[in-house]
Amino acid sequence: MTQNSTVAVIVGSLRAASLSRKTAKALIERAPSSLACKMVQIGDLPLYNEDLDSHAPEPWVRLRAEVAASDAVLFVTPEYNRSIPGCLKNALDVGSRPPGHSVWAGLPTGVVSVTPYKLGAFGANHALRQTFVFLDMPVMQQPEAYVGGAADLFGDGDEITNSGTDKFLTTFMERFADWAHTVRGAKADDFDLFLNERIKAASAYVGGDAGPLDAMVTARNPASFFHPKGDTVLDAEAVKQRYDADAKAFSPGGESRLEILQSGAQGGLAFWTGTQHATVTVGGKATTMSLRITEVFRFENGWKLAHRHAEMA
Ligand code: FNR
Repeated sequence: MTQNSTVAVIVGSLRAASLSRKTAKALIERAPSSLACKMVQIGDLPLYNEDLDSHAPEPWVRLRAEVAASDAVLFVTPEYNRSIPGCLKNALDVGSRPPGHSVWAGLPTGVVSVTPYKLGAFGANHALRQTFVFLDMPVMQQPEAYVGGAADLFGDGDEITNSGTDKFLTTFMERFADWAHTVRGAKADDFDLFLNERIKAASAYVGGDAGPLDAMVTARNPASFFHPKGDTVLDAEAVKQRYDADAKAFSPGGESRLEILQSGAQGGLAFWTGTQHATVTVGGKATTMSLRITEVFRFENGWKLAHRHAEMA
């Protein structure tokens, strides 16, 4: 794997001496250099309550941002009563909301279950997989990782003392790097398909129909629009309103052609840069213009326009 991916590592135990956290640290140490692993904390998340979504608590905002900025997610969890601990389910619920803005969708996912006992916390491992189905999280199937007998696995310095487990955890991370690359690579290909939709949305827009563009504009911050008139619009809601207001000035029949010089997608970000040639009718008068454009997209629930820089060519 040559591509670098950021991995959010989420541990389903809050206790200081957690065997799951020790296992997560051992996994991070064994990650290939193409993976940048980062522990994401879930212990401070208030219990999910839909009433709070209009003013999301700061820890919810933090979790959502940290996961959204990641290319993959790895769960390392104990089993509680044959299922997953409440703190972990809470984190999944928090990240899945508000509706239509789940930060989990499409993220390549891995799961490692840990227990001092013999059954490998199979119940927790598969309870998580059940939730991944609904959250549209492509989870690595093989190798499965059920770490049993974990209380006897670590030395005084938390090093892994069993050579078989040591080797297995290394293999697991190598395979997970491949999985993250495969899934995110597919997403990069998707961006080319998405660009066709962007071209169609631009054509509709210059004819006064902002609907198709609206559907691909982010509702999240950061969002920005460097307007051809020279002003700068910041904030997702303000940017959306500006696109809508501008489109209203255009009469039907406008034409747009995007001359794409470069485009690309990596991780959760994508861009195109080039020139937009457009003929628009404003107040009964047809005008032809060429704009130098750079647009940046963020992968949220699909590619979303997060920044547009447009200036007269
Ligand atoms: C457990 N434990 C546990 N273990 C297991 O293998 N299957 C289970 O269903 C349960 N159920 C359970 C419920 C509750 C409420 C607790 C607190 C514990 C034991 C658990 O595996 C053990 O405490 C682990 O050490 C917890 O993981 P951490 O904190 O070491 O990562």
